[in-house]
Amino acid sequence: MIATPVKAELVPTQLSSKRKTVLSGVQPTGTLHIGNYIGALSVWVANQQSYRNLFMIANLHALTIPEAVKAESLRQKAREVAALYVACGIDPEQSVVFLQSDVPAHPYLAWILGCCIPLGWLERMTQYKSKASQADTVGSGLLNYPALQAADILAYRADFVPVGDDQNQHLEITRDVAQRFNHLFGEYFPLPETLNRSSGARIMGLDDPTVKMSKSLAEKHRNHAIMLLDKPNEIKRKIMSATTDSGSEVHIEDASPGVHNLLLLYETLSAQDRARVQAQFAGKGYGYLKKALVDVVVAVLQPIQSAYNDILADPQRLDDILQDGAAKANTIANKTLADVRRLVGV
Ligand code: AMP
Ligand code: TRP
Repeated sequence: MIATPVKAELVPTQLSSKRKTVLSGVQPTGTLHIGNYIGALSVWVANQQSYRNLFMIANLHALTIPEAVKAESLRQKAREVAALYVACGIDPEQSVVFLQSDVPAHPYLAWILGCCIPLGWLERMTQYKSKASQADTVGSGLLNYPALQAADILAYRADFVPVGDDQNQHLEITRDVAQRFNHLFGEYFPLPETLNRSSGARIMGLDDPTVKMSKSLAEKHRNHAIMLLDKPNEIKRKIMSATTDSGSEVHIEDASPGVHNLLLLYETLSAQDRARVQAQFAGKGYGYLKKALVDVVVAVLQPIQSAYNDILADPQRLDDILQDGAAKANTIANKTLADVRRLVGV
């Protein structure tokens, strides 16, 4: 069963016979939450028919904080994320689903691209600065994270990368390194465009609507995020306890960040337009909005969870999907790598 389609802008279908390429991925560092679904996966699913798609599980990126890695858990999380891609509606017949670690051309290309990235670009990355400030030891992989992400994208010469807005800086550096490579070795890479939703590209934490909903905060604070595998009673507990403000009724014009976030969740998950959602909740109590949101979240997640359970019940099918995905991804990425090796002279 496929998840209820949520509102996600459709990019016009390509008219030319050659389909454009979409690539995206998620790190298997925790369970996916509703922000991952709205900002990334729902857009992948909505646009699936229009493109040649590759959806990757970025398990090599998960090694950039090696202290947080336990081999068995990383293996299992990678499969869980792959199963969730499919449960959310990614059709392996239409899209290539694969583990990053199954395509050796990614780290190979990352080395070559890394050689073209000035150190200053890497040191300026917001994600690097924030992760490095929290770590006791900073490995060079954390600094070189953008080189590997650029390789993920450029290995398929992707045209579009659908992600939440926290990834925009990574896409900028990908374009910059592609341009620098083209300048040094000859025009080769197309410059990929970021595909962000116009609303819902940044969902905030339920417990603290001033911070982005994230996997790492979800591990520390039990009411921070709705996880895709949460049961209805957990969803209810988290939404009913979500931070709002000292008021009691929805005022659309000056809604506080917490109320705005709840309205945004409702709008994106119910696939309704903003004016309708505003008319539905203006002047109503926060409790009314929260109850309506619980119903929508449960309705969206229920089919995803049931599809997820079906997939897990058939581990061979998941193995086949990943094996088939790896074969297809390797074919494309190896061709790019061969071209790149020729261009740089190795
Ligand atoms: P991550 O959880 O950082 O591996 O992110 C996986 C994908 O989900 C990326 O495309 C992110 O931009 C997107 N994403 C992560 N958190 C959010 C959020 N709170 N709101 C919208 N998109 C998000
Ligand atoms: N950095 C992304 C994140 O944390 C994951 C990622 C790795 C990715 N490689 C990618 C996303 C290539 C898009 C394209 O969410």
